[in-house]
Amino acid sequence: MRIVMIGSGYVGLVSGACLADFGHHVTCVDKSAAKIDALEAGKVPIFEPGLDNIIEHNRNAGRLDFSKELATSVANADVVFIAVGTPSRRGDGHADLSYVYAAAREIAAAVSGFTVVVTKSTVPVGTGDEIERIFREEFPQKDICVVSNPEFLREGAAITDFKRPDRIVIGTEEPRAVEIMREVYRPLYLNEAPLYFCERRTSELIKYAANAFLAMKITFINEIADLCEQIGADVQKVAKGIGMDKRIGDKFLHAGPGYGGSCFPKDTLALVKTAQDYDSPVRLIETTVAINDNRKRAMGRKVIAACDGNVRGKKIAILGLTFKPNTDDMRDAPSITIIQALLDGGANVHAYDPEGMEMAKEVIGPITYGTDPYEIAEGADAIVIVTEWDEFRALDLKRMKSLVKTPTIVDLRNIYPVAEVTKHGFSYFAIGKKNEKK
Ligand code: UGA
Repeated sequence: MRIVMIGSGYVGLVSGACLADFGHHVTCVDKSAAKIDALEAGKVPIFEPGLDNIIEHNRNAGRLDFSKELATSVANADVVFIAVGTPSRRGDGHADLSYVYAAAREIAAAVSGFTVVVTKSTVPVGTGDEIERIFREEFPQKDICVVSNPEFLREGAAITDFKRPDRIVIGTEEPRAVEIMREVYRPLYLNEAPLYFCERRTSELIKYAANAFLAMKITFINEIADLCEQIGADVQKVAKGIGMDKRIGDKFLHAGPGYGGSCFPKDTLALVKTAQDYDSPVRLIETTVAINDNRKRAMGRKVIAACDGNVRGKKIAILGLTFKPNTDDMRDAPSITIIQALLDGGANVHAYDPEGMEMAKEVIGPITYGTDPYEIAEGADAIVIVTEWDEFRALDLKRMKSLVKTPTIVDLRNIYPVAEVTKHGFSYFAIGKKNEKK
């Protein structure tokens, strides 16, 4: 089976490499010459654990290649995936579909024979219909079927998520496309991953509804965490206690500084806009978006409060910048807003992140970057854990204590047992727990 992936960003590259690993022949296309040149030179432009090995292995096996030329690549393809970006449109928060439609037109102009065109990018409900309309009106002689197949990959765990999915959602009612999509995912099907076929519009909405639900679940536990701080309860124990109920489930109940990343903020906003357009507002999600936006700045205030209400001239050491561990992605990372609040308060911010510092330099104001947690802890008035990277989970707290000016830890990810930190003489401010002030 010949598969072409249009867009070699995060989704396109992971999906393309994994499909090649299943034994298909895959070409990943991108307009960015720099990106394709880098990939051809064996450099993977994103940080995703395990991806470089899969790319190398499948290139060597002759199953995976890269190209800047869309038309020649798709000419003999059986399946063409559209995995280009759908950023939030400036001004109104709707998903910007200009790249999707441009790719669809280029694909239609170049394909021959029956071809399945699959939207893998997260696209609003009705996008598949619109692509089909374009094909019908502008390319009536072509035999193309439009299918929705959203991805549910998490950054940092994308390879495992692709190879061991909870489900594969495929939106099409066209029997020929059903056959081809079964063939694409046959190796997963044999592993008993359920292929869930439904109408195209339903499939498009499943993606948004899934992300909105998860964002709402996180926001729910974040609000419960605030309440825990006021009434003297422990949010981690509340999360465990409710999570043992199978109807609730224990996943996505880690209280923190608010969700970030390239998906939840963008997709929740797009769902809100779509629902408003259809005069069927999703008020729970509107509220989720508003609460999460406020929360990031509130985390800055939490750090300031831990520093006795004033950070002017104080050195604040930030551990972790990316929106979550195991990625270098800084998009909508809570660290950006938290650091801005600290800079506004006159703090002297030093930061360290294992992978995110290059990207952070483009989006964060004037701060100093360090080479490890101990270097930035030197002379600090507070240490703030913003991202739960593994290397922050077992810090040498004795050494930290000897380096800092004021022994204060603000742990926005709850990665330490309270007693472990206080034992070393630190004041400890976590999320959804009683403050431990020395
Ligand atoms: C998310 C979804 O989990 C994927 O299923 C989906 O495919 C993807 O969006 C997408 O639409 O492309 P991702 O953004 O990579 O994946 O990361 P998550 O692990 O879901 O985390 C998102 C944010 O929520 C992070 O800022 C994380 O710190 C936060 N989070 C997550 C919490 O604060 N608490 C939790 O319990 C879980």
